[in-house]
Amino acid sequence: MTQTQLGLLPDLPQWRALAEHAAEVRDRTLRELFDAEAGRAEAMTVDADGIVVDYSKNRLTADTIRLLVELARGRDLGGQIEAMFRGEKINTTEHRAVLHVALRAAADDVIEVDGVDVVPEVHAVLAKMAGFADRVRSGAWTGFTGERIRTVVNIGIGGSDLGPAMAYEALRDYSDRALDVRFVSNVDGTDIWEATNDLDPAKTLFIVSSKTFTTIETLTNAHTARDWLLAGLREPQAIARHFVAVSTNAEKVADFGIDPENMFGFWDWVGGRYSFDSAIGLSLMVAIGPEGFTEMLAGFRAMDRHFRTAPFERNLPVLLGLIGLWYDDFFGAETVAVLPYAQYLARFSAYLQQLDMESNGKSVDRSGRPVQVQTGPIVWGQPGTNGQHAFYQLIHQGTKLIPCDVLGMLAPNHDVGRHHDLLMANFFAQTEALAFGKTASEVAAEGVEPELVPHRTFAGNHPTTTILAPKLTPYVLGQLVALYEHKVFTQGAIWDINSFDQWGVELGKVLANRIVPELESEAEPELNHDGSTNALIRRYRAQRRGGAAG
Ligand code: F6P
Repeated sequence: MTQTQLGLLPDLPQWRALAEHAAEVRDRTLRELFDAEAGRAEAMTVDADGIVVDYSKNRLTADTIRLLVELARGRDLGGQIEAMFRGEKINTTEHRAVLHVALRAAADDVIEVDGVDVVPEVHAVLAKMAGFADRVRSGAWTGFTGERIRTVVNIGIGGSDLGPAMAYEALRDYSDRALDVRFVSNVDGTDIWEATNDLDPAKTLFIVSSKTFTTIETLTNAHTARDWLLAGLREPQAIARHFVAVSTNAEKVADFGIDPENMFGFWDWVGGRYSFDSAIGLSLMVAIGPEGFTEMLAGFRAMDRHFRTAPFERNLPVLLGLIGLWYDDFFGAETVAVLPYAQYLARFSAYLQQLDMESNGKSVDRSGRPVQVQTGPIVWGQPGTNGQHAFYQLIHQGTKLIPCDVLGMLAPNHDVGRHHDLLMANFFAQTEALAFGKTASEVAAEGVEPELVPHRTFAGNHPTTTILAPKLTPYVLGQLVALYEHKVFTQGAIWDINSFDQWGVELGKVLANRIVPELESEAEPELNHDGSTNALIRRYRAQRRGGAAG
């Protein structure tokens, strides 16, 4: 695809209009905005297929949304969305289509890449995964000695780990409790050691997940797992019953010794961080079963349809993207906190970190020009209520602007005593406290000693977006993940950056490969790094190998 060069954002009339508007809105408080507009909450709440987003507690007006939507139109967001769904090669630096939406397409949809409909292949892999998952779950697939598989260990990193690990945790309530699923990612040997230390190799199945099958962390862990298995089972033929692979690289999978029959494929048009609903989700499918996985894909698909068809003013991913951009570029916010009031979503923010920060952490636009505005935010968070007893102090009374997405469920997975009402009372209370705070006069009226009044005052005016879902189910998880995938797309499209490459991870990998032999060599190596790195490597070698530290 020939990339048309878009204008620089600050030169766009829509951008200038927003900058002028921001100067007016910046000084208005949420208290004022709510006082001025009786129906604000209703007007700024959108319900799409059960996912409710209330963005009224944000520092914006109806005009802000109108101007942001004009900006999106000025960037041809609609055309960019269609280009993705049509399979155009919008990942221009890697000459690839970006088609995670094809992973959840209905069987009769047609989505073409280079003139070939990819949907039948997607469904063929899903069917193969389902057959395998059913056999493991029923006990028909046994280990080499005939024992039933009791633990599945997914070995992968980044997009080949964070998605399935997050989703396994999120959907634990739907998983087969007779099977334990573990995730190993870090090249720190502790990770694989802890994951296998208490396991019986005869009952353990490894899923080696790597798009490229060249990632050093994953291959190192996979080799260590293979050694561990062989030390226990002693027969090389055991590998075929205890190792399967998920990859796009059949040759490397075969080189590792995994039977290509036991490989589950995907395609170069699936980015790693957009891949857990592909075969990369095999461990999840084994845990929750093919039906649960299919339900999750339906949730993704529903949000895809909404993103593609809903008007921008009522389009949840577009609204989240525009509101995020509003703070990022017109208020100078550097971060966004994602705060799920759902223990099962404990890993959701960690998952979003890669999705958002690897996608939109870019400082040149698609034409290679330096961007003129701030791009992707720092994403972080922890589940409520735990975060309230840790970092919320800084959000309430610190000096930084931290817009928050606060997620909650109308119904609990486990209705234990008063827990859900207490959890949700905190959920509602926090967004109220953040928005409206407590003025000095309100504090003083409570009889607080005058010198303590400033300490006990809450400025408020901290923006939050409330996201409510019916209950954490596979379907809802699919909706939520697609919501954020498309939010990231919306922002990248407006910033005119390539949200689908990740060249920024390369330099560290190259340097690490150069340093490995310097750490492992018996002879004292010649070091040609900077003075600091040379000295640190010498110190490490001196400790580990008894070399010279100086
Ligand atoms: O961190 C860089 C990265 O390339 C991610 O984008 C990717 O998800 C991860 O490494 C793992 O890659 P692979 O699946 O090829 O092992």
